[in-house]
Amino acid sequence: MKIAIGSDHAGFKLKERIKAFLNQKGFEVLDKGCFSEDSCDYPDFGEAVALEVVNNNCDFGCIICGTGIGISISANKIPGIRAALCTSKEMAHYAKAHNDANVIALGARITLQDSPEEIIEEFLSSKFEGGRHERRINKIKNIEEKYRC
Ligand code: RB5
Repeated sequence: MKIAIGSDHAGFKLKERIKAFLNQKGFEVLDKGCFSEDSCDYPDFGEAVALEVVNNNCDFGCIICGTGIGISISANKIPGIRAALCTSKEMAHYAKAHNDANVIALGARITLQDSPEEIIEEFLSSKFEGGRHERRINKIKNIEEKYRC
């Protein structure tokens, strides 16, 4: 499984930590930046990770900024991306099981209920349940089509 990862400066240290965790777990990781704690703009990295996922170069994305909010909003502008901001294992589970999220977003400056490693692991090991949830995902896709520029 190949995972695209990206962050702004606020998420840089946590990105490095998660990258090491994923490598150690045997995942292939594509780092889309940023590459230091110098101030930069989260939309650039939300977009870069999202494109790797919608273009099928990566199976999932992991994005991080201070709160996880700005970078998830940015990634969610790309049609086909369902980026879920998760603060707990429980949210990570349902993000995949019910929402078929293809990108997980974390906040590096906020309080998490579980460790970032536990949250990511839960996301990657959970499965989309389909059924009634598929119908709802199709409605999200219909909204994308309806407002596509
Ligand atoms: C950067 O200071 C901060 O605004 C950013 O990382 C993020 O929290 C935005 O949503």
